[in-house]
Amino acid sequence: MNRMSEYIIEIDSATKEYKSEGATFVALKGITIRIRKGEFVSIVGPSGSGKSTLLHLLGCLDIPSSGEVYLDSMAISKMSPDDLAVARNRKIGFVFQAFNLSPTLSVFKNVELPLMIGDMDESRRAPIVRECLSIVGLSDKEKSMPSQLSGGERQRVAIARALANKPEMILADEPTGNLDSKSGKDVMDFLASLWEERGITVVIVTHEPVVAAYSQRVVHIRDGKIEKETLQKPTRAKGGDHIKLKEFESARGA
Ligand SMILES: Nc1ncnc2c1ncn2[C@@H]1O[C@H](COP(=O)(O)OP(=O)(O)OP(=O)(O)O)[C@@H](O)[C@H]1O
Ligand SMILES: [Mg+2]
Repeated sequence: MNRMSEYIIEIDSATKEYKSEGATFVALKGITIRIRKGEFVSIVGPSGSGKSTLLHLLGCLDIPSSGEVYLDSMAISKMSPDDLAVARNRKIGFVFQAFNLSPTLSVFKNVELPLMIGDMDESRRAPIVRECLSIVGLSDKEKSMPSQLSGGERQRVAIARALANKPEMILADEPTGNLDSKSGKDVMDFLASLWEERGITVVIVTHEPVVAAYSQRVVHIRDGKIEKETLQKPTRAKGGDHIKLKEFESARGA
C-alpha cells in the first residue's frame, strides 16, 4: 500500500484560479508546502492574500487548478471523491467559520453530526459526543442551542465537533476571530494542549501575532505566494481546568 509518510499533507506547485463571468482570478500562484505529522503551523498574511484558499487545499476540501495535493502520501487527484471524503473525514477535523454550528441543532447534535455522516451507530455515538464535550468543558451545555452560548463556548463546541472523529490533524481558520482576548486565549491554550500532549497536527490561519506565537512555524502568504517561513519557539499552553486530555486519550482509544 502507500508508504508511511512523515508528512500528513503535501502541496506541490499548486495554483488556484477562481473563474467568474469570464474573468479569472489567480488566488494561489504556485504554492509548495509540506506539513509534518505532529507539527503546529500558522498561516498569516494580509486579507485576500489566499490564506483560506490554502487552508481549503490543505484540508482537501478543494482541489488545486494545477499542481498536486498528497494526503498521507496519496495523490488526491488519483482518489475517487468517495475515497477522498472518507480519508478526509477520518484524518482531518475542521474548525472553520464558514462551517459554523447549525443553529437549529442542539450542542449535542452539532457534535454528533460528523459521526452520523461517518455511519456510526447511535449507541456508539453518544459516549464519544459526551467525551468530546467534556474535553472542551461543556458537558453541562449539551442540551443548549448555539444561540444560548457565548462566542468562546461556540468555538469550543466547534472544536469538540472537530475532535469527534479523532482526527490526526485539526485545521482552523481564524479560531479566535470573533472572540474577546480571554476566550481567544482559552481556545488557543486548548488547541496547543491537543498538539503538545496528544501530538495532533494543528494548522491555523490567523492575523493575530499572539495567536501565531503558539505555533512552531509561521508561513507568511502574500499575493497568493509564500513570502517566507519562520521557525520559532512556541508559546506553551497553560492548561485550564476544562482541558481534560486523559479523557481525549480514552476517546481516541475507543
Ligand atoms: N469563490 C471565489 N470566487 C472568486 N474569487 C475568490 C473566491 N474565493 C476567494 N476568492 C478571492 O481569492 C483571494 C484569496 O481569498 P482568501 O479567502 O483565500 O483570502 P484570505 O487570505 O483568507 O483573506 P481574509 O484574511 O480576508 O480571510 C481573494 O482576493 C478573494 O477575493
Ligand atoms: Mg480568510
